[in-house]
Amino acid sequence: MPGFEVFGEEERQAINDLFDANGGILFAHGFDALRKGVYRVREFEAAFAAKMDVPHAQAVSSCTAALLTGLKALGVGPGDEVIIPCFTFVATCEAVIHTGATPVIVDVDASLNMAPAALEQAITGKTKVVIPVHMMGAPADMDPIMVIAAGRGLRVLEDAAQGCGGTYKGQPLGTIGDVGVYSFDAGKVIITGEGGMVVCRDKETFHTARAYHDHGHEYSQTVGRGQEGALCDGFNFRMTELHGAIGLVQLSKLDMILARQRENKKRLLAEIAELPYVRRTLHDVGELGDAIVFFLEDRAQAVRFVAGMSREGLGTKNMPDAMRWHFSAHWAHMFAKYGWYADSYREQWSRSADILERAVALPVMINMTEERIAQIGEKLRRIARAI
Ligand SMILES: Cc1ncc(COP(=O)(O)O)c(C=O)c1O
Repeated sequence: MPGFEVFGEEERQAINDLFDANGGILFAHGFDALRKGVYRVREFEAAFAAKMDVPHAQAVSSCTAALLTGLKALGVGPGDEVIIPCFTFVATCEAVIHTGATPVIVDVDASLNMAPAALEQAITGKTKVVIPVHMMGAPADMDPIMVIAAGRGLRVLEDAAQGCGGTYKGQPLGTIGDVGVYSFDAGKVIITGEGGMVVCRDKETFHTARAYHDHGHEYSQTVGRGQEGALCDGFNFRMTELHGAIGLVQLSKLDMILARQRENKKRLLAEIAELPYVRRTLHDVGELGDAIVFFLEDRAQAVRFVAGMSREGLGTKNMPDAMRWHFSAHWAHMFAKYGWYADSYREQWSRSADILERAVALPVMINMTEERIAQIGEKLRRIARAI
């Protein structure tokens, strides 16, 4: 997820331009008489919507905020259930909890994304929304998920925090369900430092999302902010002009980033073609290409593989180093006070645990020379011989 690797002169220039153009007004709205027509957040929203081929995009301060905003826009609240996968970043679950709804957490399959069969089994009369998450830059299997959701009258919110720029059967991730959300935090494919985006096709959903992210403001065309009405309760999840200006530059680099990391992944895979435990996904074409996942035979072998990587100076990407934040078996801190999943957390998702505990992810970067790729390939082959 290497937007930070190509963060530099153009982004610095965009900040300077902002100060030159409007004297440094950082608020995304208002100050109309002073800002000389400069609205970077609005430009970023328009450019992002065009890139994703959707009519509406709302910039927010993080993807965590985008998740909560998206859920609110879909009308989720106390008494509702929201189905999420057990392998995702904690934010997906936190956002559901913050609406007052109950997260219903289901298994993933070998794609590392929500298992459609597990989704189907978890639906109850209270289910309102399903959140497939495109983990590690690889698309969730959206066709069956959309069919199941449509059959049961459920709305779909895609968490594309890790999937910005990826596609599923040609369609941009985040634009297949009712709402899509993206992250631009410091570790993602394009970054604004902190930031997020909500996209959707439905006008009403967009109006609610836009209002919710900004204390309910209705965004009137005729009166100033102080006089305008409120559509709903809300919060302050606004993006600043600084982030909007940087987002515009990073978005213009998205295709280059994806092309380079996909190419680097292809070269790395060629280097380690004989290793038996490299994951192949169903939808390689649409992947972001920012990680290679290895499935070892069992947990013990995975531990030996990671030890080998550490000896060789190779880092891992979330798996296993940050599983505490990405696998619900570790989230007693969220569940205990509600009495959810009271017994053994691992047993709740043992099928997923069997997959996740033998998975190891290697990050793929943009700035990798051919020499570095060959070197990593050699190291991985050496580790494989030793385990
Ligand atoms: C799947 C997923 N959802 C949501 C988030 C939250 O994003 P943010 O850091 O922008 O709040 C992340 C961040 O890592 C993520 O990976």
